[in-house]
Amino acid sequence: MADHTIDTALCAESLPKHVAIIMDGNGRWAKAKGKPRVFGHKAGVEAVRKTVSTAKRLGIQVVTLFAFSSENWRRPEDEVSLLMELFMTVLGREVKRLHKNNIRLRIIGDTSRFSPRLQRKIAEAEVLTEGNTGMILNVAANYGGQWDIMQATQRLLHKMAEQGLTASDITEDMLASELSTAGQPDVDLLIRTSGECRVSNFMLWQTAYAEMYFSEQHWPDFDEASFADAVAWFVNRERRFGCTGEQIQALLER
Ligand code: IPE
Ligand code: IPE
Ligand code: MG
Repeated sequence: MADHTIDTALCAESLPKHVAIIMDGNGRWAKAKGKPRVFGHKAGVEAVRKTVSTAKRLGIQVVTLFAFSSENWRRPEDEVSLLMELFMTVLGREVKRLHKNNIRLRIIGDTSRFSPRLQRKIAEAEVLTEGNTGMILNVAANYGGQWDIMQATQRLLHKMAEQGLTASDITEDMLASELSTAGQPDVDLLIRTSGECRVSNFMLWQTAYAEMYFSEQHWPDFDEASFADAVAWFVNRERRFGCTGEQIQALLER
């Protein structure tokens, strides 16, 4: 192990600051087991827990998880309501643990379409963890990348009107500072599970320069080793030296 020390230090320096994940394939995972889709969504929660814990231990600054897209309302009504219920339950159950781990939870997306109860829970969770100084965890719910750019534009225009500014005064930084991820680094590594190679209207602005990693694994099977492999792949794309998933896992054991 001793001669891995230098490599391990180099790996640590080159880690992505912001990892965003399109958690896809819950339905197919369940179907392959002859179970209903909801079984897959429930199993996906455990993969979320593992991912958050691994990212935190690696010292990643920001993790964004795509939990529900603005297009997902088109799914059958019973699946949508189950996903909402699951979201409520998980939020209620996990928020204390996140808080204890100094994680700051942010729900990004148009939450106005959620039930008043869910909106209240979201607000409470955000307030509770607001002062935390560790990792930021963004959960994208009723999120769309086009929506994010549109709402940022609206907010910016309101502010500009108040300040007497005109269209030619707009800068990229001004727009970025109204996005749901304002103040956070852009996405360095985008992971999508389950083999699809699409962005599905996820963080369109924030992924402008992201490395994109597509894994064949279904989301419920995504574990610590899968995350370590994705991060090692990123480190190898970005830097001039090699590093393996095992070395990233060794970072976890420091
Ligand atoms: C991702 O899994 C979870 C959500 C979109 C909520 P899917 O439900 O999209 O699973 P597949 O893609 O149908 O297998
Ligand atoms: C993207 O997955 C949204 C989430 C993971 C929440 P989908 O399964 O909904 O995306 P499409 O429909 O395959 O593009
Ligand atoms: Mg899918």
